[in-house]
Formats: sequence, structure tokens, C-alpha cells
Amino acid sequence: METAPTTNARLISWVQEMELLCSPDRVYWCDGSPAEYQAMAELMVSTGTAEWLDETIRPNSLLSRSDPADVARVEDRTFICSTNEIDAGPTNNWADPVEMKKTLTELFDGAMQGRTLYVIPFSMGPIGSPIAYTGVQITDSPYVVVSMHIMTRVGQEVLDTLADGDFVPCLHSVGMPLEPGTDDVPWPSNNDDKYIVQFPETREIWSFGSGYGGNALLGKKCFALRIASVMARDEGWLAEHMLILKLTSPEGTVHYIAGAFPSACGKTNLAMMEPTIEDWRVETVGDDIAWMKFGDDGRLHAINPEAGFFGVAPGTSMESNPNAMLTLRENSIFTNCARTVEGDVWWEDMTPEEPATLTDWHGQEWAPRATTAAAHPNARFTSPASQCPVIAPEWEDPAGVPISAILFGGRRSNVVPLVHEARDWEHGVFIGSIMSSESTAAATGAVGVVRRDPMAMLPFCGYNMADYWNHWLETGHRKDAQLPRIFYVNWFRKDEDGQFVWPGFGENSRVLKWVFERCEGTAQARETAIGHVPPADALDIAGLDISAEAIKELTEIDRAGWLAESNDMRSYYEQFGDRLPAALTDQLDELRKRLADAG
Ligand code: OXD
Ligand code: MN
Repeated sequence: METAPTTNARLISWVQEMELLCSPDRVYWCDGSPAEYQAMAELMVSTGTAEWLDETIRPNSLLSRSDPADVARVEDRTFICSTNEIDAGPTNNWADPVEMKKTLTELFDGAMQGRTLYVIPFSMGPIGSPIAYTGVQITDSPYVVVSMHIMTRVGQEVLDTLADGDFVPCLHSVGMPLEPGTDDVPWPSNNDDKYIVQFPETREIWSFGSGYGGNALLGKKCFALRIASVMARDEGWLAEHMLILKLTSPEGTVHYIAGAFPSACGKTNLAMMEPTIEDWRVETVGDDIAWMKFGDDGRLHAINPEAGFFGVAPGTSMESNPNAMLTLRENSIFTNCARTVEGDVWWEDMTPEEPATLTDWHGQEWAPRATTAAAHPNARFTSPASQCPVIAPEWEDPAGVPISAILFGGRRSNVVPLVHEARDWEHGVFIGSIMSSESTAAATGAVGVVRRDPMAMLPFCGYNMADYWNHWLETGHRKDAQLPRIFYVNWFRKDEDGQFVWPGFGENSRVLKWVFERCEGTAQARETAIGHVPPADALDIAGLDISAEAIKELTEIDRAGWLAESNDMRSYYEQFGDRLPAALTDQLDELRKRLADAG
């Protein structure tokens, strides 16, 4: 083994042990330097894993095409291995930790033959922040190394700050050993066996067989959500699937807002939004994950544990998200996007006109009106957060930013109004627990099916969801806590013709303004059975071409719909048995009573 650039005994012995198990040709400790990034990029180009885009159009940027069977998170191959099945809960795949270690140890035995074992020390959050934590990923994928360079803070400074401290070990292999004399493939992966495994009690991650996104960049979903949610429960904080934005009024007053939305529901768009209402400003702190700890002021202070954006490309354009387009202008990695003849990337809806010819995400020639998409629907860009033109100057503040409001939201074509506010924290936790959304391409499986996705954490909660709700409830009981207000938003209502009723994107600033004014105590609200809703004249719709009927439809309470929803919720809750906090059943009963009274 190369001399370890650390004296951390546990780290050194773990790397030695994994080297012995995985039998790589060599071990390489990543230093996080730009030179290392360039060398890895060149290596990927030489092996066909990536190609450079045109240097003048998209400087220092790579395009990768994955194996067509390795394109999204594999939720059915994701496991939470607590000693007792009940601690993983009914919404997670559980496996016995001892059995699973045995299975994985066999799979990892010799798995890195013919490859390099890279050791990536990384910090989730600004290095040394009291809200940040350290992980170390072992991987045999150069694609993962360059992606981790963008998505996290990698390098010697992490090891120096870690010293002899604790870290989360994250073991990853693409699961395709190279027998001597065999040629590699551009995107090595294992199409027979994929395992994304979290051991919450020992805080370990083992991932085998996939090189894609959240399956392979282990700092993101595996650590910052599944393992961190368990750490947060144990230590009294919150690790959430939330964007963080800074909203500034024309008077210069600031509120920080966190928002939980399921995958591919527009978190990146909301976090980087250009408000359409005059003189309001949105700046970005994070687009996917928030770690929140109580400060001395009793408020929840949030950091974005990531350093980059791993955003869904299709649908992103100068129209829908100009700030994302400017963020990804250079130094980016594109995966499963199409390539233009000029050597740029392209994806559906990136430009009003489709280019005349393209190379699609399979590497095949593509022409407009082809029956298949040019970019995969879960094609991604990986770009440094620092390149975002509206990144908030305090996005790397080690103390985090104080959160005034939490938004829950999903993709629902009916029932759920444009915005409503919880009556109090406990009701807010209830609202989070009943969130649902129509599924998207971010995970494998059918698209467009309504599924319950509590707090947008369904695929990311590292323990029993009922215990997680209980942790949220307890968070609200903390003495002297100055809790954020909680809202439920839905940009995705459709009319009978299947058209969106609300224009979304920058117009969502109108809803943010109401949220802001609720935090300031200046906005009116109408009390309804489901919570507080803006009265017709409280939403600023000046200059917006929308009918009074549409506004009514967006803000009225669909009693029958909510009653049906509450029936569905009752059966959803049943699976949690006696782990379900009584406060939530009480909330459900009270909601039903209020709906009945309103009838
Ligand atoms: C993501 C996801 O990649 O939620 O952020 O799938
Ligand atoms: Mn996400």
C-alpha cells in the first residue's frame, strides 16, 4: 500500500483490510487537487468512460454514457441492515446485518482485481464546521473520484482535520473485476448483483455493482441522508432531503427557507429561482440536502453538506432555470446527456428547437421526431456549487443559516392546494408524514404513480419511518426551541385538460412571498380544515396572467378529496403498528373531524 497520509489508526487498518479483501492492483490516496482531477479525467477519456466536450463551448467538461442498465438509484436493491427488522421499519428493505456482511464480503472478495483502489477522504459540510462530518470512500471508479471532487470537499485538509477522529467508512465497487488479459468496458458495473447497503448501527456503507449517482457517490444519499438521519436521531438534530434558499425582500429583510420535495420535483429550480416579483431575491444555499442543528439562539441552523449539484438535466433550460444553466457552463460532468455535432451537450427542452442531429445517450445517431429521447430522463449534470451565479455568500458558513420556514411539497395533479400552512409544529409533522407525489425517473420503476413519500425521505430514511416522525415530534418539544413554520406547497395542480393550473418556476416566488410574510407576521391567512390558506387577495398575483377561477381552484379545499386522502393515510399508517406516534393518529382524527364539520 502507498504510505497513508494519515495517522488515523482505524482508517489505516480499514483501508488495509479492504485492500486485502478486494485485491486491487494498487491503492491510491486522493489529495483532492486540481491536478488529480485532470489526471482522473484524462484516464476516463483514455478508457472510454468519458469524452471531452468542446473546449470553447463547454470548457473542461466531460460527457459519460452509463451502461443502459445502470441509470438511476435502485431502491429495490437498497438495504437498511439494523439488527432488528422493526428498526428498519416497513418502508425500508431490511436484511440481517451478519448475513448481509457475509454476502457482501463474498461479492467484494477480489472485486477490484485489475483496478485501482482509490481512497477518498471527504467532508460533508465545510471542513471543521460543528455541523459537518467526515467520510472516507473507497472506490474502484475514477468517475466516482471526479464526481466526489465536485460533490464534496476532498483531500488532505479533511484528513488533517479528522486527525484520530471518527469517520463513516463508505466502501464502493463497480463489481466488475478485470481478469488478466480482459479488456475493460467504458462503464463497468454489475448487472446481476447490485447492493446499496447501510449499516445504521455501525454507521457503515457498502455499495456494490453500480457506478451511477446516489448508488455510487456515497456521500450523498447513503451518508448524508440514510446514515446521517440515524446520527441525527441519536444526537438531536435533523438530516433532511431539503433544499435551502435565502429569500430577501425589497427592504433587505432575509429569511432562510428549507424545502423537502421528492426526487425530480424541482428542488434545484426552486433553490436557484429568479423571482418574477419585483425586487425580491432568491439565493442558493443548497439544492438537495440540509443538515440542521439547534444553535444557542434556539433556532435550527442549516448547512448544505454538499459542495456541488447533481441535477436532473432534461427540462433544464435558460427559460426554466437560467442559474443552473450558468452553473453548468464549465468544469462539469454530464452523464447520459446527448452530444451535439459541435461537441456540446443537449437534452430534452434544453433549447426551443431540437438540433438537427445528435448522438444520443446510447452513443447512437439521433434525429428529431425519433421515438426515443436523446437524453435519458434521469440524465444529470454534476457541477460545482461555487459556479452558481446566485450562490449565497454564506453558503459555506460553518455555523449554517437559521431556518425560518420549512416547505413540504410533492407532485400532485389534484387535491393538494397551491400552499397551506400547518397550524403548529405537530400539525406540520403530520403534514410532512402524509406527503405524497407522483413518481419520477430519478429511481427505477414506473413513472407517474402516486406514492406516499413522507418528508421526501421514503427512499432515504435510515431507520423506522415511525421513529423518524417521533424524532421530528420530539424536536418540537425541545425547551426554548424557536421552530420554523411549516408549509405544504404543490406547484403541480392540473385542470381537466391535463394542463398545469399554476405556471410554476419563477412565479413560485409569489408563494414564497406569502411564506415570508407569514414568518414576519404580516400576511393574512384563512383558517380551513387542512390548515391556513392564503385568502384570494393575500397572494401577490400582480402582472400574472391567471384567472380568478384558477386562483380559487388552487386555494380551495377539496373536502371529498381530503377525506379520501385521509382514508388512504389511515391505511398507510397501519403498517407502522404500535411504533406510530399517537400524536399523528390524533392529528388524522382531528383533520377528519374538521373536514366533517366543514361539510
Ligand atoms: C437525487 C435524488 O439525485 O433525489 O437528488 O434522486
Ligand atoms: Mn435528492
